[in-house]
Amino acid sequence: MPSPAALAALASLILPVIGLPQPFVNVMTPVMPTYSSQTKAQGDRSLAVGRFPDRLELLRPSLDNNLVSYSLTTESLSGNYTFAASDVLATISQRWLGEFMRMYPNVTFNIHAPYAGSLGALELVKGNLQGVFVSRELKPTDVSGFKDAFGYDPTSVPIAGGSYRQFGFLDAISFITHKDNPIESLSFKQLDSIFSSTRNCGGNSIGKWGDVGVNGTLADKDINIYGITPWNGFEEFVRQKVLSCGGKRGEWRSGEDTNTTKKDPHVTWEETVFNVSRLVSEDPTAIGYTGLAYVDSPVKVLGVSTTDDGPVIAPTYENVALAEWPLSRVVYFNTNTDPKTGMDPVLRELQKFVISKEGQKLLLDQGVFLPLRKFQQDSSSKMLS
Ligand SMILES: *[C@@H]1O[C@H](CO)[C@@H](O)[C@H](O)[C@H]1NC(C)=O
Ligand SMILES: *[C@@H]1O[C@H](CO)[C@@H](O)[C@H](O)[C@H]1NC(C)=O
Ligand SMILES: *[C@@H]1O[C@H](CO)[C@@H](O)[C@H](O)[C@H]1NC(C)=O
Ligand SMILES: *[C@@H]1O[C@H](CO)[C@@H](O)[C@H](O)[C@H]1NC(C)=O
Ligand SMILES: *[C@@H]1O[C@H](CO)[C@@H](O)[C@H](O)[C@H]1NC(C)=O
Repeated sequence: MPSPAALAALASLILPVIGLPQPFVNVMTPVMPTYSSQTKAQGDRSLAVGRFPDRLELLRPSLDNNLVSYSLTTESLSGNYTFAASDVLATISQRWLGEFMRMYPNVTFNIHAPYAGSLGALELVKGNLQGVFVSRELKPTDVSGFKDAFGYDPTSVPIAGGSYRQFGFLDAISFITHKDNPIESLSFKQLDSIFSSTRNCGGNSIGKWGDVGVNGTLADKDINIYGITPWNGFEEFVRQKVLSCGGKRGEWRSGEDTNTTKKDPHVTWEETVFNVSRLVSEDPTAIGYTGLAYVDSPVKVLGVSTTDDGPVIAPTYENVALAEWPLSRVVYFNTNTDPKTGMDPVLRELQKFVISKEGQKLLLDQGVFLPLRKFQQDSSSKMLS
């Protein structure tokens, strides 16, 4: 009779092949420090000069060896361009732009304060600048404002990964439950069925823990869900990734705002993600989502599967750095590109440089955002051809 350890080792070899959820090794990690939002003075400073991490993540990835290098174009590039950037992208965008101007001396780039993605997006709609580096998805109102003005969507190309759990710097998102909840993972369809009223991904409504296979005393308990009041970058991301299926935008259960007339007693709206992990840690029936930087209370961080019978992926550093964690974030460069005329050649070359091995090396050297993997470079590259 093989030992249990040998059986487990065998199972870990076989299970991925046949596509069953892989068992996890439960690793206990200490909670993160409790952060608070920037003070007015810190916010003003970020607007003026950019935002810097107060404490750098120690884990660093290596660059994907297969990233394609930048090669200079034979086209003669020239022109004068103005850009904007989110506060967290101020320094890296200056480095990218500086390096590009060194390669193409007839190109002039300007980028200056205020450093705020929200302001930059508005200036792009007004036609006051040619591109904006934004550390999240554009707001739906920015996209619709842009479309009203120009008749087509803004072009948003992913140019960098987010961070693993760097506070303020686009940390990866996870679903969390109380630490005593026996559940280990949920599929995207189950999450949609728990959190949305629309259930665009085709599941039945899920209201009790027993509905997702939890046994024991929790089984007949209602699932208490903790959400972030729209609009918020975390909320928008989860809505796009998990609640939107088949091109249909998902809606949160129990209305969009705290004014909703039909309040569901099992939905708690928080203004921001700051308190979510503490609230979930205090409620045995809870589920919520938050950035990994905000897990400052002992909760269970769930694995997810993107398809019903797909492999379960754990929110580990490695999975986030490999961009395999499906709730990893990305940074975008947004331009006004008329599909009829195609992309401005300078803007196209700039983005090709940014996503190249050399551009991503500059990012790696900063130690904050995660460089793109080859498959991400390929997909962004397609948007630039
Ligand atoms: C820069 O512009 C000047 C003047 O138009 C031109 O002679 C020169 O070849 C250009 N340099 C490059 C590197 O394109
Ligand atoms: C580029 O454009 C900006 C803004 O319109 C202007 O302030 C600047 O003088 C221009 N620079 C060059 C080199 O033409
Ligand atoms: C819960 O109970 C059912 C039926 O008794 C069983 O099939 C299932 O494996 C149990 N689930 C867990 C998570 O223990
Ligand atoms: C919520 O209600 C308050 C007071 O009636 C109102 O001022 C506010 O605009 C409402 N918010 C939303 C999002 O509808
Ligand atoms: C978090 O909760 C504390 C304690 O209830 C409260 O003082 C604080 O305002 C909350 N913070 C946010 C960002 O909601």
